[in-house]
Amino acid sequence: MDREEMGALLSPMFGKIAHDGDLVLKALNLPKDAAILDVGTGAGTFAIFLASEGFNVLTGEPETDTSHYAGKDWASNAEKVGLRDKIRFQAFDAGAMPFADGAYDAVFFFGVLHHIDEAIRADVLKEALRVAGNKGSVVFFEPRQETLEKLWTTDPDHPLAANPADYLPGKDVSEQKLEGQMMNIYIYRNAA
Ligand SMILES: C[S@@+](CC[C@H](N)C(=O)[O-])C[C@H]1O[C@@H](n2cnc3c(N)ncnc32)[C@H](O)[C@@H]1O
Repeated sequence: MDREEMGALLSPMFGKIAHDGDLVLKALNLPKDAAILDVGTGAGTFAIFLASEGFNVLTGEPETDTSHYAGKDWASNAEKVGLRDKIRFQAFDAGAMPFADGAYDAVFFFGVLHHIDEAIRADVLKEALRVAGNKGSVVFFEPRQETLEKLWTTDPDHPLAANPADYLPGKDVSEQKLEGQMMNIYIYRNAA
């Protein structure tokens, strides 16, 4: 199924989401058997994008999250585009991830950090870098101003974008920034 067909079934934003995802996949150059964690499942759109690129994905959000953006039927969305078998769900809180140090080659947060309680964002950065270990990457996609303005037309209470650099732990990490069509993208790696 091509991206236009996927967009028609999933979301009119899918083309832009895939464009921004492509930028990052090009920068990371991950092997197809990479261990991939998608934090903040929502409607499953980014997990589905990753699955459409051939990756097996573990995705999750807190079981206790009753907000508008959580508890969506991501599995039906994945089913619609024939990618349900490439995505696994496990409930977890990004502030205390139930995964081993270095368990993931890439940890993605697509449109998620600004929805996480500000009080735990520093823990989230620390945890993401811990599970990415020495070789993995942590990638945050946060909405650009134009994207926020669109979101506010349907959700006036949608939060402002977060800057992950405000929550980095005091240890050495490298940062790479990319400008997507829809999102600003921040890639972090633990310094060698
Ligand atoms: C707008 S949705 C993300 C969109 C989603 N990535 C997609 O591609 O459809 C925001 C997500 O952040 C998640 N979230 C909020 N607080 C969280 C936390 N402490 N740990 C993990 N996920 C969290 C919500 O449960 C929700 O799934």
